[in-house]
Amino acid sequence: MRKKIIAGNWKMNKNLEEGLALVSEASNMIKDEYNGNALVVFIPPFIHINAVSKMLEGYENQFSGAQNCSNHQSGAYTGEISASMIKSCGANYVIIGHSERRQYFNEHNQWLAQKIDACLKNNLLPIYCCGETLEERESEQHFQVIESQIKEGLFHLNVNDFLKITIAYEPVWAIGTGKTASTAQAQEVHAFIRTLIASHYSNEIANEITIQYGGSVKPENAAELFAAPDIDGALIGGAALQSRSFTDIVKAMTH
Ligand code: PGA
Repeated sequence: MRKKIIAGNWKMNKNLEEGLALVSEASNMIKDEYNGNALVVFIPPFIHINAVSKMLEGYENQFSGAQNCSNHQSGAYTGEISASMIKSCGANYVIIGHSERRQYFNEHNQWLAQKIDACLKNNLLPIYCCGETLEERESEQHFQVIESQIKEGLFHLNVNDFLKITIAYEPVWAIGTGKTASTAQAQEVHAFIRTLIASHYSNEIANEITIQYGGSVKPENAAELFAAPDIDGALIGGAALQSRSFTDIVKAMTH
């Protein structure tokens, strides 16, 4: 059985006090109200990670993560944060290649492949994002775009390292827009990603990899998405900023 993972990406929201209040409420609500097996990941801005990780100590299946990391190990890169720094603050996961990083910070697949390597070298588990823009979907290029994102970002990995990857499919047109991909649209892409993995690695490996959906996931649509055979969780933006909605999405993962 592959892991189910629900992750909340706060993006550039919440000061420290607000962030800790959110984690304190949500982690307790999840502990009290949820008895499923899904892993929960809180992904605050870098500077909150240490405090958030400390707060989560002792909470079973609840972890912290980072939204990005440098592709370099250390050195003269003013303003950058390395994977080893993130690890030393108690995080377990790192989002790599979020569409906002690709779009606003020009992060491309080759660079993201280096970030993946930096994470793995430091025992951090990457959540690698892929997804097409509206224009790419409308011109029916979405499968091609996703294929190159997956191949160029991940397929240099050996099997052992590849098994540490979580993939998040996030159609850019569904992020923060209130427009969710239909369950059928999401399932179609998730199944496609699994075929790509099967042809490069094996069917067995393809079945082991957690593939999250992201893009306007809410308590109202989570259960339907999670019922699809290839959707193994969610990467949540807006709805992760409130303890009630985040907890309710976690509770929608009933298997
Ligand atoms: P959203 O963001 O849930 O606000 O659409 C998802 C994401 O960008 O990870």
